Amino acid sequence: MKAVAARHVRRELLPGQSAALLQELHLLTRTGDLNADARRKLKQINHFFGLLQPALDALGRDGHVPLAIDAGAGNAYLGFVLYELWLGPLGRGELWSVEARPELVAQSEARSARLGSERMRFLPRRVADLWPAPGTLEVEGRRVDAVVALHACDTATDDALVLGIRAEAAVIAVVPCCQAEVARQLSGADALRAGVGSLWRHGLHRREFAAHLTNVLRALTLEAHGYEVAVTELVGWEHSAKNELILGRKTQRGNALARRQLDGLRAVLPPLDMGLLRALDAKDH
Ligand SMILES: C[S@@+](CC[C@H](N)C(=O)[O-])C[C@H]1O[C@@H](n2cnc3c(N)ncnc32)[C@H](O)[C@@H]1O
Repeated sequence: MKAVAARHVRRELLPGQSAALLQELHLLTRTGDLNADARRKLKQINHFFGLLQPALDALGRDGHVPLAIDAGAGNAYLGFVLYELWLGPLGRGELWSVEARPELVAQSEARSARLGSERMRFLPRRVADLWPAPGTLEVEGRRVDAVVALHACDTATDDALVLGIRAEAAVIAVVPCCQAEVARQLSGADALRAGVGSLWRHGLHRREFAAHLTNVLRALTLEAHGYEVAVTELVGWEHSAKNELILGRKTQRGNALARRQLDGLRAVLPPLDMGLLRALDAKDH
């Protein structure tokens, strides 16, 4: 992906998106150019926003005051863009940016003060620390409408899913990052057993299969908890290998067919100790 000179940057922006914000986020250089890496990042964030926008707009209807959580926020690029394009124009609602590294949180907080994004809150916490206790739906005493996670590392994506599912958030959207939890366990499982073990006997197949399986289990888990799920590509595969968007919208309490499919799939696999399944099994969903 090529760099874009300052005079052409406007073409890369969404309606309502300001070059000033991107400059503050250091996605634009001091002279206003968009270098190749920043362009890739911006493309991912803007596509994420575009795919999410109808669901977010629905959350702001009828005077509702939405609360969204960005889990594993890093530099909070996504959060600032959501604020500028969604919560800012809406004039109400909050975005909580959750990030385990305190130095990133402090940086984002300072940025937010400069930008005047008053309804953003920055939490130097691990996502799992915010899980509602079984039997409650609230996070820090509040109901949550949306949980998003863009490339939250490894199992942090699952922590975001547990957060959203336990909170019964209306919208949950994740773009998973690299994942190792399942691959590690498959490598210990009997790869030579007849049948399914052949799917992961070679290291490369194991990594790809485990990533695919992890995302299948994530999508089925959302469905089993009453989410209607769409799995789509975020940007072209030439721009990023971590490119799968799993978008869930809560439409019912639970889904018995998806639950059976999930259980059926788990039954043909070696036993997997996956944090996502453990956290939700524990709640007896
Ligand atoms: C690859 S970065 C992505 C950041 C951002 N979402 C983006 O797309 O630019 C992943 C971030 O998740 C944070 N992280 C990883 N595990 C976490 C956890 N369990 N709780 C909170 N943050 C976590 C890391 O510190 C890192 O900043």
